[in-house]
Amino acid sequence: KMATFNEKKTCSQRMENFQRFIWNPDAGELMGRTLINWVWISLYYVAFYCIMSCLFALALYVMLSTLNPYTPTYQDRLHAPGLWLGVMVRPDVFGEEGVQIFFNLSEKSSWERHVKTLQDFLSVYNKSVQFEKNCNCTRGKYYFQDSFKGPDHTKYACRFIREMLGNCSGLQDPTFGYKVGQPCFIIRMNRIINFLPGNGTAPYVNCTKVGGHSLGETETFPVNGTFDLSYFPYYGKKAQPNYTNPLIAVKFLNLERNKEITVECKVIGKEIITDNPHDPYEGKVLFRVKICD
Ligand SMILES: *[C@@H]1O[C@H](CO)[C@@H](O)[C@H](O)[C@H]1NC(C)=O
Ligand SMILES: *[C@@H]1O[C@H](CO)[C@@H](O)[C@H](O)[C@H]1NC(C)=O
Ligand SMILES: *[C@@H]1O[C@H](CO)[C@@H](O)[C@H](O)[C@H]1NC(C)=O
Ligand SMILES: *[C@@H]1O[C@H](CO)[C@@H](O)[C@H](O)[C@H]1NC(C)=O
Ligand SMILES: *[C@@H]1O[C@H](CO)[C@@H](O)[C@H](O)[C@H]1NC(C)=O
Ligand SMILES: *[C@@H]1O[C@H](CO)[C@@H](O)[C@H](O)[C@H]1NC(C)=O
Ligand SMILES: *[C@@H]1O[C@H](CO)[C@@H](O)[C@H](O)[C@H]1NC(C)=O
Ligand SMILES: *[C@@H]1O[C@H](CO)[C@@H](O)[C@H](O)[C@H]1NC(C)=O
Repeated sequence: KMATFNEKKTCSQRMENFQRFIWNPDAGELMGRTLINWVWISLYYVAFYCIMSCLFALALYVMLSTLNPYTPTYQDRLHAPGLWLGVMVRPDVFGEEGVQIFFNLSEKSSWERHVKTLQDFLSVYNKSVQFEKNCNCTRGKYYFQDSFKGPDHTKYACRFIREMLGNCSGLQDPTFGYKVGQPCFIIRMNRIINFLPGNGTAPYVNCTKVGGHSLGETETFPVNGTFDLSYFPYYGKKAQPNYTNPLIAVKFLNLERNKEITVECKVIGKEIITDNPHDPYEGKVLFRVKICD
């Protein structure tokens, strides 16, 4: 027995064995199984996958039918797992170390792009647009809406018109002060659904120079750099499709020339964290400015 087992097979014998494995006419077997066996196995797998697909579809259906379309969507939350408060600045040209706005007063092209960014950014805040989309709200208190009174099952949002940015509205001075070296920066918070910042007192923005000293004189718009409470809470993209973020503009009147200055703007208010050691970007924005002449 052992001898036959160890016996060396010729190549043609191997071929023959293999062919027999593929189709064995004596036993009527295809690859070691009878045809009826194969049919049963196929049926088993078809049934198995059918059941799995049905279970998956059922789970998906149950999940989708319990999702409320008015609760936060992933997109709205992208920057806000929990209450992460991101702060953005415009214009926002990125350098190696974040936003850097460098320009040369004698070169129009070096500041024109920033002016264009601001004009584009503010165009949704044009009076005509805001009067069509949003409403006049009572200032100084949260604008709660329990029901969906707007068209197509939506909620209203408050107007924010660019006139509220005064000397930074780009209306009287379409160059936002860049032409004369008194640039405006616009600050915006990300949207956080159901967030009530400030605990009843409007949060405000305070910009300081990183590394001591001062930024010189500044003007902030609206008055005191506050985000009015009527813009909160935000109910989400689907519930408040016309919502536009409130803005704060800061104008630097006499920044030191030919020197790179790092500015830090923080949102200050109750329940707003700006000193998270694990996330230096929470509740504030840093940017570098250099005005050459
Ligand atoms: C600003 O532009 C002017 C004119 O092009 C040039 O002479 C000057 O050197 C520039 N200043 C700086 C700091 O690059
Ligand atoms: C918004 O107003 C500015 C300045 O008046 C104008 O240049 C711009 O075209 C307007 N944009 C829209 C979308 O109405
Ligand atoms: C949103 O804006 C459109 C016009 O763009 C307006 O018809 C609609 O009434 C607005 N919705 C709400 C809830 O104000
Ligand atoms: C908006 O409401 C305020 C009072 O809440 C009122 O003084 C103002 O005239 C209103 N503006 C418009 C355009 O309706
Ligand atoms: C806006 O600019 C004008 C002219 O430069 C100035 O007189 C006025 O005080 C500024 N307004 C505010 C609110 O700072
Ligand atoms: C928020 O304000 C309420 C009363 O207006 C006060 O009782 C509560 O302690 C405040 N919360 C915080 C965190 O300051
Ligand atoms: C802004 O921050 C600086 C530095 O932290 C502080 O000295 C100043 O009082 C703050 N201003 C306001 C209005 O909170
Ligand atoms: C701005 O702040 C000052 C000082 O804190 C305050 O007296 C004034 O009422 C504020 N103005 C507005 C419109 O909130």
